[in-house]
Amino acid sequence: MCGIVGYIGTKQAAPIILDGLSKLEYRGYDSAGMAVYDGVGKINITKSVGRLKILENITRDGETMPGVCGIGHTRWATHGVPSDTNAHPHFNEAETITVVHNGIIENYLQLRKMLTDRGYHFVSETDTEVLAHLLDYYYKGNPLEAVTKVLHRVEGSYALGILFADCPDQIFAARKDSPLIAGQNEDGCFIASDVPAILKYTRKVYYVDNQEVVRLRADHMHFYTVDEEETTKEPVFIDWDASAAEKAGYEHFMLKEMYEQPKTVTDTLLPRIKDNDIVIEELNMTDEEICGVSKIHIVACGSAYHAGVTGKYVIEGLARIPVEVDLASEFRYRDPILEEGAMVVVISQSGETADTLAALRESKKRGFQVLGIVNVVGSSIAREADNVMYTWAGPEIAVATTKAYSAQLIALYLLAVKFGRVRGKIEDMTYASLLGDLRCLPDQIELLLNNKNKIQRFANRYIGAKDVFFIGRGIDYAISLEGSLKLKEISYIHSEAYAAGELKHGTISLIEEGTLVAAVSTQPALYAKTISNMVEVKARGAFVLAVTCEENKEIEKAADYVIYIPETNPYFANSLAIIPLQLFGYYVAVGKGCDVDKPRNLAKSVTVE
Ligand code: F6R
Repeated sequence: MCGIVGYIGTKQAAPIILDGLSKLEYRGYDSAGMAVYDGVGKINITKSVGRLKILENITRDGETMPGVCGIGHTRWATHGVPSDTNAHPHFNEAETITVVHNGIIENYLQLRKMLTDRGYHFVSETDTEVLAHLLDYYYKGNPLEAVTKVLHRVEGSYALGILFADCPDQIFAARKDSPLIAGQNEDGCFIASDVPAILKYTRKVYYVDNQEVVRLRADHMHFYTVDEEETTKEPVFIDWDASAAEKAGYEHFMLKEMYEQPKTVTDTLLPRIKDNDIVIEELNMTDEEICGVSKIHIVACGSAYHAGVTGKYVIEGLARIPVEVDLASEFRYRDPILEEGAMVVVISQSGETADTLAALRESKKRGFQVLGIVNVVGSSIAREADNVMYTWAGPEIAVATTKAYSAQLIALYLLAVKFGRVRGKIEDMTYASLLGDLRCLPDQIELLLNNKNKIQRFANRYIGAKDVFFIGRGIDYAISLEGSLKLKEISYIHSEAYAAGELKHGTISLIEEGTLVAAVSTQPALYAKTISNMVEVKARGAFVLAVTCEENKEIEKAADYVIYIPETNPYFANSLAIIPLQLFGYYVAVGKGCDVDKPRNLAKSVTVE
């Protein structure tokens, strides 16, 4: 996810672009850059790795880049590490065509080869640079024609801002599957990835359609199809305030991020399924090496550890490889036994968690290859791991993780199915059905999110709760761990997760009249067992909330309130069952008036032990 801003008008462009980018830093903040037409024939470009602040300092808040037409970008690295060279804007060799881009050009390797064969030289590792050279290739004096020809050639997603030195009075923009808006006031026209970037200047906004091109001039803009036919468009008048707008209308980043989960799951999953086969190039492992893995050690903290606990059940079940899961803070000091053939997998959203990083270093010191499942591109864990499997969740701002956790689950499922298949544990029909079930997850998550009102009503009853217990067996225990953490970290209500069979070994004495027990039951083989544990707590006065699968109607006999999840393979049930539990924690915290996005005492990235 990246942010783009463009301006053309009567005012100085650079300060407006910098101001707009500052509202988009939530979309990415590992590097930033600007291109401004200097008014006498040249496009000046400045870019820098690091936060936007650095670009502001280098350009003295835009003063060193005079001009009334320009584009800017704040980056969340996907192709190529964060660096000055990989930062946007990208340009052709003559620096007469300049591009900023949000999205992923899927066929960039083919295009890069085609252009290299024709003598084009690439300086960055990005997918975006192909756009600059491809525009150069097609530009024969008509910029609109060049833009539309390029759009016909590229596959993937994009929101683009483009400057041609030959046309100093115009900016071109286009989008497909990445957000882009245009806006206008009496001083000029704007483009941006999101409304807050330009809300200070105008509330008159045009939502650019998929595969639509915009030509902006200082006093008007025109919209075209990819076949150069002009279209008309009505503006929308924005009446939100700026801080709400940054959350795209959501009350909290946490809610927004929960709603991004269908996309996060899609983005982490689909690029790794090719021709009905799981292809994880980043693993850099031959089939022989996969078959040689004798044990997997998963190491992580907090929610990432909970994803790892699910990973253990799924990998052991599907690939029949023994898995040990460790809290990174324990692993690093317990002198772990890493035998020949063991593989270490560290999981981290931020890629900066001190204990996880130390566990990675400890494993490498002992001569073991480490695979990192990481969200933040270019982070310390991503740089130091031998191989990195990115979770494409984009920037996560709320301290309590939701979408990154969901993406971590997907990465683990992919590993489990891939390893199971390669090791001969999954036959053709099961393989096809597992892939089919994975592909259904985004829509099923969406369905559960749309059920939020029911969960909100239920959550409102528990705003005053003192203790809540989450119980489950197997994968359902792993889900309970995460459901419990979500509730306690943002609502400050004490909660604990227990393996359902363990309650009667002590904890059941804490159950009083009205205590809420959330029972997770998604594993058909264990339905009856969990029901008997529900009956035990109900008999001691508990109010029992059940999260289960549609087929398990039997549970209604033992539960006071039931939330059903759609049908999926039991190994993937966590991805669905966690959604109502996230919503429950969120709505309890909202109901209590807690600072949901920034809970007390917590930080998004824990860089100390
Ligand atoms: C809980 C949460 C934390 C993190 C943990 C690890 O909502 O976000 O428990 O999961 O601090 O952080 P990363 O994944 O950045 O290593």
